Amino acid sequence: MDSFAFIIHPIDPKRDVSRKYPLLGRVLNERQIDFFSTFFPPVYISEIEGITSNSTGKQIKGWFIAVPYTPRRMLQLPERMVYRKIVQAGRMAERLGAQILGLGAFTSVVGDAGVSISRSLDVPVTTGDAYTISIAVQSIREAASLMEISLQAATVAVVGANGAIGRVCAELLAEDVARLYLIGRREEALNELREQLSGPGRAELIVSTDLDMLAKSQLILSVTSSLEDIIHPEDLMPGSVVCDVARPRDVSAMIAATRDDILVIDGGMVNVPGPVDFHFNFGFPQAKVYACMAETIALALEGRFEDYTLGRHITRERVEEITEISERHGFRLSGLRSFEREVTPQQIETVRRNARKRLRRV
Ligand SMILES: NC(=O)c1ccc[n+]([C@@H]2O[C@H](COP(=O)([O-])OP(=O)(O)OC[C@H]3O[C@@H](n4cnc5c(N)ncnc54)[C@H](OP(=O)(O)O)[C@@H]3O)[C@@H](O)[C@H]2O)c1
Repeated sequence: MDSFAFIIHPIDPKRDVSRKYPLLGRVLNERQIDFFSTFFPPVYISEIEGITSNSTGKQIKGWFIAVPYTPRRMLQLPERMVYRKIVQAGRMAERLGAQILGLGAFTSVVGDAGVSISRSLDVPVTTGDAYTISIAVQSIREAASLMEISLQAATVAVVGANGAIGRVCAELLAEDVARLYLIGRREEALNELREQLSGPGRAELIVSTDLDMLAKSQLILSVTSSLEDIIHPEDLMPGSVVCDVARPRDVSAMIAATRDDILVIDGGMVNVPGPVDFHFNFGFPQAKVYACMAETIALALEGRFEDYTLGRHITRERVEEITEISERHGFRLSGLRSFEREVTPQQIETVRRNARKRLRRV
């Protein structure tokens, strides 16, 4: 049976360590977990069964393997130490017999986005970023439609527009919307991106290195590699939608508590075809995964055992190809989530009503 492996890592140290080691998660504090993780080897988490292609009926199996570092630890430690730990996890995948390896969340952000890691391994590697782009853009289109925001007339912002994922999200959205803010830290690189993306029939493109522009944006797609949240309640206009693809999150959890007139959605859940059992709770509802996991699984179903999405220059052709492959095997954007809870039609209605009230008061 063909197979894949996927590398995960803790993001919220206490919560995520508790998922595998309830006692350690209870007794250690975050700093202790970070410290001990330096000496911890990669951890075998579980075998994944039941994934079955809708179009070919092919079944595959897979494994979750955890690298013990949090994103903060990955940025604190020398890059070669982090690579070494990820490569160790990759070797475990090879011993298990995996034919393709997916790099989850921050393991794909570190260093050169998978290129060096793939050179050190025999198993082919993908970051999953191409399908993450596809699903992020589909999520924001879906959320706009639910909130009755016309895409063609909308002002939109991409935060982290110089990043591997942000850049292509901006490229795709520039074809859909009226005005697009490209927000990042390096103005020169943003200006280059604006040059590349401008053209007839495209959005008006405006570069910015500060977040003030968010107050003018109806739709925001945020995908930075910041360790801290960077989008706060006071930054946003009533009735806006923020799609937060970043892990750790870019959007402050305070927004959920203080702004009932804004819709914050996660990057999008993807339905997995077949009676899948992950034998591990990574925090998603049954049979749903992150897009980066879905890319790895779809490539295994397709039998494309080759390095796929690596490095920071992802092409839209790659995004279109993985979208076609994934959809053919039965993967789909499946509902929106907000701070790990499913978004209901009632919630959308409440957000819209509160936004109307707030706008009347301004
Ligand atoms: N939800 C999913 O399924 C999924 C899948 C894969 C990745 N991700 C997440 O997506 C995020 C981005 O990944 P990536 O591969 O695109 O990373 P990347 O190529 O490293 O890009 C990150 C971008 O964020 C910018 N940035 C970092 N800190 C910032 C700050 N404080 N303010 C503004 N911009 C800041 C960086 O700016 P500079 O260019 O100036 O360095 C860079 O352009 C990560 O959080 C990752 O974990 C999520």
